Amino acid sequence: MTASLRFVPRILSGIQPSGSVHLGNYLGALRNWVSEQHEADCYYSIVDLHAITAEHDPRTLRDTTKELATVLFAIGIDPEVSCLFVQSHVPEHAQLGWIMESTVTFGELSRMTQFKDKGKGEEKVRASLFTYPALMAADILLYRADKVPVGDDQRQHIELARNAATRFNNAYGQVFTIPEPMIPKVGARVMDLQNPSKKMSKSSSTDSGLIYLSEDSTSIAKKIKRAVTDTENRLVYEPDNPDKAGVTNLLEIYSAFTSIHPQEVADSFTNYGGLKTELAELVIEHLTAINLRIKEISEDPNELLRLLQIGAAKAREVASSTLYDAKNAIGFLAP
Ligand code: TYM
Repeated sequence: MTASLRFVPRILSGIQPSGSVHLGNYLGALRNWVSEQHEADCYYSIVDLHAITAEHDPRTLRDTTKELATVLFAIGIDPEVSCLFVQSHVPEHAQLGWIMESTVTFGELSRMTQFKDKGKGEEKVRASLFTYPALMAADILLYRADKVPVGDDQRQHIELARNAATRFNNAYGQVFTIPEPMIPKVGARVMDLQNPSKKMSKSSSTDSGLIYLSEDSTSIAKKIKRAVTDTENRLVYEPDNPDKAGVTNLLEIYSAFTSIHPQEVADSFTNYGGLKTELAELVIEHLTAINLRIKEISEDPNELLRLLQIGAAKAREVASSTLYDAKNAIGFLAP
């Protein structure tokens, strides 16, 4: 009798603990983190090393790291199944990051749109903001991940990780797996409710266009009601029409929560008011359940830290083995 062996893919993804988790993070990436848990061997990281590439406050960083871990467990990351860890608890990331900086080129890093966007106009851009994609490549390659669930804005970074892995393997021998991005069909690019030509982002100057996972119902309803649409009042789904960016965003958020195609959603409403009211109800219903879990988990902070310690130990087992192979391949003398 032959046993049928099923290939279980390895998944790695990360999120920065810089500010609260918003609907873009959730629909673009985190929902996939949860749904993949029983399909794959999952490693999820709170990437605090990445969070110090821009100006930050140490005490706030510690708080947002704990807050983020709470939210991740609250949305359904199961510590029995998945490995959730804080990046700085696994020193192999910084070590492989250096090797990746010695694998990718200055030209490649200069072409990264995130660096161009975030560094623009800033007087004191940290060097680590420039080399950030090399560290992100290390995050992924350390776990020999097959798939990386992310939103659309991370596409270019994953492409760099793929190029780095290929270049390293060709130069020094087969060490790394070439990762594939895993980007959802709807929700990959949730836009700011006040400025729908821009993605919803923690670094927005005001939070009136963002919906946080921990936000209360009144505030969610208010923000959706005030979401910018257009003066035409023609409820159609035209994703390529920039004049319709506001309503496109609302239809796509609705679609992401219900799995109903945005075109069908558009056909079922006659005006913006009706769409906004129902969308607010949907979002509130979903986030209320998450908020209850956030409250429960927050009652036992020691348990949270214990789970993160277990996560880091499990992550280190995989990361240290890959790092060993990479150091050996590149020619470092074993200590
Ligand atoms: P971060 O922390 O900015 O965002 C976390 C995840 O949320 C997605 N996302 C969005 N998706 C849809 N619409 C939006 N408006 C939106 N905003 C954010 C992001 O695409 C991301 O998947 N560089 C990464 C963190 C990182 C990482 C990694 C990711 C570090 N190492 C390794 C994957 C693998 C970042 O800054 O994500």
